[in-house]
Amino acid sequence: METKQKSPHNETMKWLEASLLEALFIAVLLTAPVDAESVDRLDDHICPGSAYVASNNTNVWTFFKDRSGPLTPEMRYINNVWGYAYWHPFQVGQTLYFRGKMQPGTHLFEFNILAGAAVDTEGVGQTLLCMQFGYRPDWTGFIKLSSKKNGQWSNTVQIDKSPLLPRQFFDLSIYAMEDRFEIRLNKKFLVEYTYQIGLDYFLYQNARKVDLDKVFIGGQIFQMPYSAAFPDGRFNFLDSIMLQAVAEKDFSINIINARNDVALKFSVNFAEKCVIRNAKVAGQWGEREKNGTFPFTAGDEFELQIFNTPLFFTYFVNGKHLGTFIHRAKSAELYPIEYYSTLEITGRVSLRHLSICKAKV
Ligand SMILES: *[C@@H]1O[C@H](CO)[C@@H](O)[C@H](O)[C@H]1NC(C)=O
Ligand SMILES: *[C@@H]1O[C@H](CO)[C@@H](O)[C@H](O)[C@H]1NC(C)=O
Repeated sequence: METKQKSPHNETMKWLEASLLEALFIAVLLTAPVDAESVDRLDDHICPGSAYVASNNTNVWTFFKDRSGPLTPEMRYINNVWGYAYWHPFQVGQTLYFRGKMQPGTHLFEFNILAGAAVDTEGVGQTLLCMQFGYRPDWTGFIKLSSKKNGQWSNTVQIDKSPLLPRQFFDLSIYAMEDRFEIRLNKKFLVEYTYQIGLDYFLYQNARKVDLDKVFIGGQIFQMPYSAAFPDGRFNFLDSIMLQAVAEKDFSINIINARNDVALKFSVNFAEKCVIRNAKVAGQWGEREKNGTFPFTAGDEFELQIFNTPLFFTYFVNGKHLGTFIHRAKSAELYPIEYYSTLEITGRVSLRHLSICKAKV
């Protein structure tokens, strides 16, 4: 059998071609204006696939069949900057979420919300918020927030002691209020930042010198108590309710079926420091279950995910498994199938983002 010999000349040519192409590619990016077509729309949820998302300040879900980017964000080269860049409108009531870790070999990483351009190039765009996480030579951290309006940096706020240790995973959430952002680090309140530039521009979000694990934006102004019909009247097996919210005091999440029974009442009780679970079957409340840990802190943000399965509901808080609740309706007629009518959230909780992740379309 004849095998084709690799010629060193060919190899060199290939390498040259590749690096020339790369140089050309960067040159094109450098000169071309960066616009919405060159960066992805930031995803509206963190579901792995399709999702129904509470949006538009109503209790009507918006369905997203496909994600616009992968679940784990990918870096790209834009205007000579290796980082992440997206566009997405940002409205009052919405939150921008980042989870990540500082890159090795650096002392500073940053996040930006820009108007008009995806990255900060001379003379282009305005910066609504530039948020920098820096470390001094002794590795004590600081955080700096600033805006750039008409080319001038302004409204700098410096936090001298950063609660974030270097090389630690962190969760950052930036919640848009009428006149300011409320910023949380690792779910805890960090700082408020008054807008120098409003939200009503074409907005971009970018990050650099950081490895991102998750990024998304969304949510709405939620009317409380919140109540929404399950899409198609179903909460299918392996689908999940994904909620981000700030706990203020006691609150409940209720999964209600078409007979007006409650398949799960999940009540967070701060006085007793427990999560009370119960169900109402054929009009009768059953026995309360309240064992297990209590992962909520008043004033902190949390992420709660509740899955439906053929035998039980199972729930996770901040990514940690909290418990399961075995379906109570067991007679043939009442056997828990996937038909549920309403998702209800009542009590003292500030909802930030709510979606239903679909296991399959
Ligand atoms: C709701 O918002 C989404 C984007 O989040 C948009 O695609 C959709 O068209 C909006 N729906 C309505 C009814 O305005
Ligand atoms: C609560 O107690 C039941 C019965 O002992 C047990 O099966 C279940 O795992 C416990 N739940 C939690 C969250 O500890």
